[in-house]
Amino acid sequence: MNTLDSIIKRKSVRSFNNEQISEEQLEKLIQAANAAPISGGGRADSARHIAVVQNVEVLKDLSDVVAKLVPIPSPNPLYGTKTLIVFSAPSNQFKAEQLDVALSAQNVSIAATGMGLNSVIMTGPVYAFNASEELKSKLNIPEGYTPYISIAVGNTDDTSVKTREFDDTNVSYIL
Ligand SMILES: Cc1cc2nc3c(=O)[nH]c(=O)nc-3n(C[C@H](O)[C@H](O)[C@H](O)COP(=O)(O)O)c2cc1C
Repeated sequence: MNTLDSIIKRKSVRSFNNEQISEEQLEKLIQAANAAPISGGGRADSARHIAVVQNVEVLKDLSDVVAKLVPIPSPNPLYGTKTLIVFSAPSNQFKAEQLDVALSAQNVSIAATGMGLNSVIMTGPVYAFNASEELKSKLNIPEGYTPYISIAVGNTDDTSVKTREFDDTNVSYIL
């Protein structure tokens, strides 16, 4: 799949099946995550941490906490994913740490689509870490880092296609 197709065909999937992603796929996703641009690249305070959660018990604990905390209650807020990737960052002088991790997560979602995988970007699980230090510590998130965004990645039996009509009504062209 070419890059533009991966971007346009990406859609949020909320029903993962039991098939775990392969180690090779995970490695490519991490490569994509770390290939994202980062503000103030190379400086000591410009950094991101990536936690890959595949442990069944941690996923279950996380799901249970999120289920109680998200604004829209859901019995299954991680949608059965077998892989959740959580992005954290320390505050940096550009105040761009949330943008840094968002770009990283988006890289993963586009790469996943290109590899025939499915994903959904979520802030929901972040509520759980803010509510439970114990849960946060299970992810080995470094001291001073805040989790901001996560992405569930996996396989699905949902074969629906999201159509995206070209729409530029929100665009100002300064020609
Ligand atoms: C910052 C951010 C946070 C999101 N958090 C959640 C979430 O917690 N749970 C969820 O199911 N979807 C979440 N989404 C996914 C959006 O609902 C989804 O991207 C949007 O409905 C558009 O659908 P699409 O991704 O299929 O284009 C989030 C998306 C973004 C960008």
